[in-house]
Amino acid sequence: MAPNTKGFYLPWSQERTVAIVERHRAKRGALMPVLHELQDVFGHIDARAVDLVAEALNLSKAEVYGVVTFYKDFRSEVPGTSVIHVCRGEACQSMGAERLARHAREHLAVDFGGTTSDGAVTLEQVFCLGNCALSPAVLVDGRLKGRVDEAGFDELVAASRAEAR
Ligand code: FES
Repeated sequence: MAPNTKGFYLPWSQERTVAIVERHRAKRGALMPVLHELQDVFGHIDARAVDLVAEALNLSKAEVYGVVTFYKDFRSEVPGTSVIHVCRGEACQSMGAERLARHAREHLAVDFGGTTSDGAVTLEQVFCLGNCALSPAVLVDGRLKGRVDEAGFDELVAASRAEAR
């Protein structure tokens, strides 16, 4: 799969992973903050990070891996070149977000959390982007879009794919 190249997530690096672990390791229950920051920075929890985290926090790899796979917030695979979040919060739902969510999954032929077979787009759901006045809202590689209907979604996907070429 192509790595994310739009700067929304950074490519995995051992150095950054160690720095993140060091920032949290003295805290009680450091595992979750470490994993959340790794997910936010790299867009996934790399298998190499699992090894580093386990060693630094004195946990088994199975324990760390178990948490990564248990929580839907965490992804084990590198995300697609673009990451598109569809808001399914209440305000967006009242403006057709469920129809948009269904359309997004059909159009991309993936479920939420999935990446298209060409590695171009990862589809995610979110439950409020703070853009309720312009529902339904979508986040494309960190850029907020409002009043997105099905046709608008398709245009955003096409533009993302074109940008990635
Ligand atoms: S509920 Fe979608 S932006 Fe707030």
